[in-house]
Amino acid sequence: MIIAVDGPTASGKGTIAKALAAHFGLPHLDTGLLYRAVGRQCALNSGNADSPVDALAACAFPDSLLDDPELRSEATGGLASRVSVHPEVRHALYERQRSFATQPGGAVLDGRDIGTVIAPEAELKLFVVASVPARAERRFREMQAAGRAVSLADIAADLEARDARDRSRAEAPLVAAPDAVLLDTSDLGRDEAIAAAIALAEAAGARP
Ligand code: C5P
Repeated sequence: MIIAVDGPTASGKGTIAKALAAHFGLPHLDTGLLYRAVGRQCALNSGNADSPVDALAACAFPDSLLDDPELRSEATGGLASRVSVHPEVRHALYERQRSFATQPGGAVLDGRDIGTVIAPEAELKLFVVASVPARAERRFREMQAAGRAVSLADIAADLEARDARDRSRAEAPLVAAPDAVLLDTSDLGRDEAIAAAIALAEAAGARP
C-alpha cells in the first residue's frame, strides 16, 4: 500500500508519516530531505539557488550528505524551497521518489506533491494542515530544543514565505489532490494526530 502524506512545513506531516510507517511496517521516505540536500549542495558549490543551472548541478549530491545535520536548519529549508521551484530539479529527483513509492509491499512518502505527482495512485493521500501560529510555535520549540537562537516572529515570517513559494510555483505546487483527506493538526497533540492518521489509514485498508 502506498501512503502519501503532503502538507506545508511544520504541519506535522513528517511525524505522522514516520509513525504510519512504523505502525504498518512500511519503508518511509522524507522527500523534503532530498530537496534540502540539493539546496545544501548548491550552497557548498557556491551556486545560486535561484539559477536552474546551479540547482540542477547540485542534484548530483553524494548520499552521505543526507546525514548532514545542517540539512535540518531553517537556512537549508529556505534554500530547498528555492531550488524546488525549478522543473529541472523536480524531474531529476522524480525517479528516485517514484521507485521508492512503487517498491513491492508499498511505502510511506511525505512531501508536497506525493499524492499529485509522485504517486497519484496512492491508496491513501493525507493532506496535513495546521494554522501558521500553531506551526510557528512547534518549529520554535524544536529550534529551542536544538539550541538554536531564533525568534517566533522570524519563524512565522519564514513559514509564510515558504508556503507562498510552494503554493505558487508553476510545477507541482503544494496543493491537495482532489481525493486527499484533510487532517488539521492545529489543535491536536502529537499522539492525537498520529492516532487520527492511523485510523484514516485503517479505513483505507492498511493493516499492521
Ligand atoms: O518538508 P521540508 O520542509 O523538509 O521541505 C523543504 C522544502 O523542499 C519545501 O519548502 C519545499 O519547497 C520542497 N519540497 C518540495 N517537494 C517535496 C518535498 C519538499 O518541493 N516533495
